[in-house]
Amino acid sequence: MTDVWQEAMDHAVTVARKAGEIVRDALENDMKIMCKSSSVDLVTKTDQKVEQLIIASVKEKFPNHGFIGEESVAAGQPCILNDNPTWIVDPVDGTTNFVHGYPFVAVCIGFAVNKTLEFGVVYSCIEDKMYTARRGKGAFCNGEPLQVSDQKEINQSIIATEFGSNRDPEVVDKIFSNMRKILCLPVHGIRGAGSAAINMCLVAAGSVEAYYEIGIHCWDFAAAAVIVEEAGGVLLDFEGGPMDLMSRRIIAANNKSIAERIVKELEAYPAVRDDAPLDTNP
Ligand code: IPD
Ligand code: CA
Ligand code: CA
Ligand code: CA
Repeated sequence: MTDVWQEAMDHAVTVARKAGEIVRDALENDMKIMCKSSSVDLVTKTDQKVEQLIIASVKEKFPNHGFIGEESVAAGQPCILNDNPTWIVDPVDGTTNFVHGYPFVAVCIGFAVNKTLEFGVVYSCIEDKMYTARRGKGAFCNGEPLQVSDQKEINQSIIATEFGSNRDPEVVDKIFSNMRKILCLPVHGIRGAGSAAINMCLVAAGSVEAYYEIGIHCWDFAAAAVIVEEAGGVLLDFEGGPMDLMSRRIIAANNKSIAERIVKELEAYPAVRDDAPLDTNP
């Protein structure tokens, strides 16, 4: 069994690198931008092309495996995580960055079996940084081991978060109110790379102490979750329990005390779950 997952991970690295080439090429060319749920929820032909490439290549090699992919879900595929080996794919994490040429864009491939993440591959393709982790085997960036920061005090930390693409004024108020609480602890700084996965890889690399966001999806954080844990970090839900892949909320931190401080500080407003029935999930 073990070797099968290693073969899958090697395949994920190969296909993520190919996908990254497509993303870099598209930056030089016309990228065909479209909107999804609103004028700030962008998607491009490249997002769709990369997802198709990953799914087709995996189907050929592992015909019995399942998929959850951002653009397939957008096209009406269900977002269901069952016990089967499942590839959780975000073809372009940081589409807004990609559209604007802001250089943090990642191809994300997570892999779960029995609902447990077995490996994660995040290719920050403009930086050419390949982040990888396999459960129990450590986390790496371009082959070099990753280790989270050893900082214990939140007031000596940088915390990453994002604004997402929900522009409902009530939600925006909650985002700012939560950010204000963190900023006033006080922390050294708040940052946001514009890519959930890259923020999490920066936690794994020790460059920021924690990342939190409400409203993201399983494809945004599945791959990077393994990388954070294998670099020695912790993942919590906003209620303080273990990370829930379908909950659309995550806290990723260098250690439990900083993660729990974030839980204590922030309002844990819920987002519609990724596995909610389609008629309740806009
Ligand atoms: C988005 C990015 C962004 C985060 C959003 C995500 P996308 O992913 O990760 O940083 O704030 O919540 O949806 O749409 O660029 O793949
Ligand atoms: Ca998107
Ligand atoms: Ca994403
Ligand atoms: Ca995406």
